[in-house]
Amino acid sequence: MCNCNGSHNDNPLLPVVGKIIKIVEETPDVKTFHVTSENGKPFTPMPGQLGMVSIVDVGEAMFSVTTQGPEHLEFAIKRVGTLTDVLHEAEVGQSIGVRGPYGNGFPIDLFKGKDVLFIGGGIGLAPVRSMINYCIENRDDFGKLTIIYGARSPEDLCFKDDLFENWPKVRDTEVHVTVDKGDDNWKGNVGFVPAFLEQINPSPENTIALTCGPPIMIKFVLQSLAKMNFQPEQIVTTLEMRMKCGIGKCGRCNIGSKFVCLDGPVFTLAELNQMPNEY
Ligand code: FES
Repeated sequence: MCNCNGSHNDNPLLPVVGKIIKIVEETPDVKTFHVTSENGKPFTPMPGQLGMVSIVDVGEAMFSVTTQGPEHLEFAIKRVGTLTDVLHEAEVGQSIGVRGPYGNGFPIDLFKGKDVLFIGGGIGLAPVRSMINYCIENRDDFGKLTIIYGARSPEDLCFKDDLFENWPKVRDTEVHVTVDKGDDNWKGNVGFVPAFLEQINPSPENTIALTCGPPIMIKFVLQSLAKMNFQPEQIVTTLEMRMKCGIGKCGRCNIGSKFVCLDGPVFTLAELNQMPNEY
């Protein structure tokens, strides 16, 4: 099914011409690009889905849609190589190619009626943010929201407006932020995300946990959640970093017999436990 807004045809390989309408400098190496197209939003993703962003003569890569407005999509992009270097030099008004959506997205029905525990690290908050904002927009469908987020340092925290202004104001929502290493102005917690999670000690009862971040963080977050009696069926993560072509063609995302791009990138831990431990 195509979720486009009529601005392109059903061919998932055909990009639409997107226009950058706003750029937010999140950290020294992460910028969020607000992108629209001639016909409004280039496509309408569900939380956790991705889009392919391209620049002619440079290349293309898959990025999670970190959130969306009625007329635009947002991509939070970390500077890690040729395409992202060029994107980081882009200015408002520049055209880029955009196509999607790709991936299965978060299993919203699994979250409905439950408390939701979000655990993010670094740029891993980008896909998680799409689900946080979905829960906020549909606030009555979900129980308590607990957001735990960490980054290397205060300047590496992404989405500061959401963390410190917008999300704490939402009914029945807690936001807990930590950094690996503070600075002279940092008054918050210092320490790694898994230890911080155990300190906050959220109840597993009627709760779904969603986590995304660096692999090492996820590894220890999963151990901490297990200690707190979260069951594998209650834990959701996204392997979006494995997405390359997004359509089952390049063969670069398979784990055993599964293709991350076609079967995921979102999986419960119960599903991952059935797969070879290559993630
Ligand atoms: S990302 Fe290319 S086959 Fe899955």
